[in-house]
Amino acid sequence: MLLLAFETSCDETSAAVVEDGRRVRSLIIASSSAAFTASGGVIPEEAARRQVECILPVLHQALAQASVSIQDIDALAVTRGPGLLGSLLVGTTAARALARLWKKPLIGVHHTLGHLSSPWLELPENDEPTFPVLTLSASGGHTDLWLRSAHTRGRLIGRTRDDAAGEAFDKGASLLGLPYPGGPSIAKAAEHGNPAAFSFPLPLKKEDTLDFSFSGLKTALRYTIRDLPSVRPNLMSHVSHLPSPAPLPVADLAASFQAAIVEHTVDRLLAALAHHPEVSEVHVVGGVSANTALRLALRERIPVRTLHFPQRLVFCTDNAAMIGAAAEFLHRELGERAFDPFTTEASLPLGDALMNCES
Ligand code: KG4
Ligand code: ZN
Repeated sequence: MLLLAFETSCDETSAAVVEDGRRVRSLIIASSSAAFTASGGVIPEEAARRQVECILPVLHQALAQASVSIQDIDALAVTRGPGLLGSLLVGTTAARALARLWKKPLIGVHHTLGHLSSPWLELPENDEPTFPVLTLSASGGHTDLWLRSAHTRGRLIGRTRDDAAGEAFDKGASLLGLPYPGGPSIAKAAEHGNPAAFSFPLPLKKEDTLDFSFSGLKTALRYTIRDLPSVRPNLMSHVSHLPSPAPLPVADLAASFQAAIVEHTVDRLLAALAHHPEVSEVHVVGGVSANTALRLALRERIPVRTLHFPQRLVFCTDNAAMIGAAAEFLHRELGERAFDPFTTEASLPLGDALMNCES
């Protein structure tokens, strides 16, 4: 199928034309994340307002870049949730109106199923992944471990108990005075830092679980910063002969904090593989899968032949191409039922991401 897909769940407005769930004929992403650098996080009302401004220009650019007209499109697809309700409503309202106007079927897609489908985008034809696949989906909103027997079938075998991995990067960056989004800014600061300069505890070390926990790392970073001599409140600052406080060692703190997140993630994936020897390949998706240190550590330490990341960095973070791929797979596995009407939901149970989800 040739699908026109939309993704508007947070602060990206994206449209794409995707062929057969694999070939990305066009992908346009307008991000308003720069508007939230100072606030340290997305302001939902502002994100929704930006979605309204961007949705039609992004649609026109996606069709133009793919050199297709409406007649060529077989179906539309859109993220139905979870995410920020205002942002989601812009995408789903646009997609519903266009589908009706152009008399095309519309497929509502769970955002997480989009991420799970992203490794297939631009994958060479002879490189077909074989199920069962163990997928870590790590982004700003969720950190989940899925064991999948097909694109839309599987079981949630682990999830974060508190913050998501991307959220840990975002909160850590805010503590270090680095701009939002925190993942890329921590990764950049870490390039010049020593990952062994500070040590952070490995979360859930003693528990027999495949769950994640990142909030303890964030608290440990807060206390590490608080206890540094350089940032102690200088109560004697009026005494001019005392030395002024040293600057915060941001590069070392960023490198060590990133190393702790990477270590916890690798540790969980190794535990999951030990529990599930039937797994034939591992996929790592979502915004955090763009992290170079994580990719290097996984390539070194994950003992499976096939480790897939999305083919392009732009497929890791939120984008409409992954929604087009997921819609294609939903249609293949559900047939016409994929076109059923759907609601737009800010919180959508994880079970709705996959059929036959046993979690
Ligand atoms: O998948 P995504 O675009 O949106 C959600 O579904 O949440 O993920 C965004 C998250 C943010 O928390 C961001 O800080 C993180 O992914 N991220 C990264 C990197 N690029 C984005 N984290 C670590 N390293 C990166 N290079
Ligand atoms: Zn996402």
